Amino acid sequence: MSAHALPSTAGRMPATARMPGHWLLARLGKCVLRPGGVELTGRMLAALNITPQDDVVEFAPGLGLTARAVLARNPRTYTAVEQDAGAAERMRRWLPASAKCLNATAERTGLPSACASALYGEAMLSMQTPEQKRRIVQEAFRLLRPGGRYGIHELCAVPDDLPASVLKEMERRMSLSIHVGVRLLTSPGWRALLEECGFIVEWEARAPMHLLEPRRVLRDEGLRRTLKILFNMIRDGEARARVREMRGLFRSFGDHLSAISLVARKPSAAA
Ligand SMILES: C[S@@+](CC[C@H](N)C(=O)[O-])C[C@H]1O[C@@H](n2cnc3c(N)ncnc32)[C@H](O)[C@@H]1O
Repeated sequence: MSAHALPSTAGRMPATARMPGHWLLARLGKCVLRPGGVELTGRMLAALNITPQDDVVEFAPGLGLTARAVLARNPRTYTAVEQDAGAAERMRRWLPASAKCLNATAERTGLPSACASALYGEAMLSMQTPEQKRRIVQEAFRLLRPGGRYGIHELCAVPDDLPASVLKEMERRMSLSIHVGVRLLTSPGWRALLEECGFIVEWEARAPMHLLEPRRVLRDEGLRRTLKILFNMIRDGEARARVREMRGLFRSFGDHLSAISLVARKPSAAA
C-alpha cells in the first residue's frame, strides 16, 4: 500500500496530529497493523486450520494482508466485514469474484446465522468498549456453525494479575497517543470474554508487542516496504514525531504489554 493509498473515506480523515494510529501507519506505507505481527498471524491461521471446505468470515481486514494468506488456502467462501468505507472499497478492488467485503460493523454484520465455519479478527477488539467487545463476540458466535472456530489476535496486558490502576493508566496514555480508545484485557480477561459468549477456548499463543520495533517492522513488511516507510517518515516530520511517540510509549510499558492470539470453538451442540 502506498503512502497515497490511505484506506479511509476521502475528505473525512483527520489531520496527522489526530489521525488514529493505525491509519497514520498505513499512510506511511505500513501494512501489518496488528500487535503480534505476521508471525503470530501465521500461528493463528495454523491453529484455525482453514481448508477448501471452509466458509470464512474476517472481521476488520484493514489492508487485507491476512485475507491474502487465507485466500491462498482456497476456502469455499470468504467474506470480510470492515467498518471503514475506504478500506472496504480498497479490498473489493482486488478480491476474487468468489469473495466479498461488506462495509458494516462487526457488531451487526447483517450476515445470516450459521454462515461460517471459521471466523477471525485481528487488532480490532482492543479498540472497543467492554459492551462493544461482547456484542462483536456474540455476533461471531451467531455467525458460526456448531463446531466452528473463532480466532482473535489482540493486545494483552501482562502479567495476569496486573493491578487495575496500572492497566487503567496504560489505557489512558495509549488512547491519548493513538487517538483510538484502547481497552486492554489480560489473558484471563480475553478467555472470560469468549467463554461468557459460549465459546470453548482451545489454543493460546503470545508474542512480544513489537509493532514499531525496527526488527519486527523489517520482518513484517520486508526490506522494500520498510525502506518506503522510512522514506515517507523522513519526508513527514509530523508523522515521524507521532510514530516516535507511540514507539516510546510502547517501550515504556515494557513487560506489561504483549500480543495474544486465541482460537476458540463454538460447541457442537450449540444452536
Ligand atoms: C488496527 S487496524 C487492524 C487491521 C487488520 N486486521 C490488521 O491486523 O492489519 C483496525 C481495523 O479494524 C477496523 N474496525 C474497527 N472496529 C470495527 C468494527 N466494529 N467493525 C468492523 N471493523 C472495525 C478498522 O476500520 C480497521 O480496519
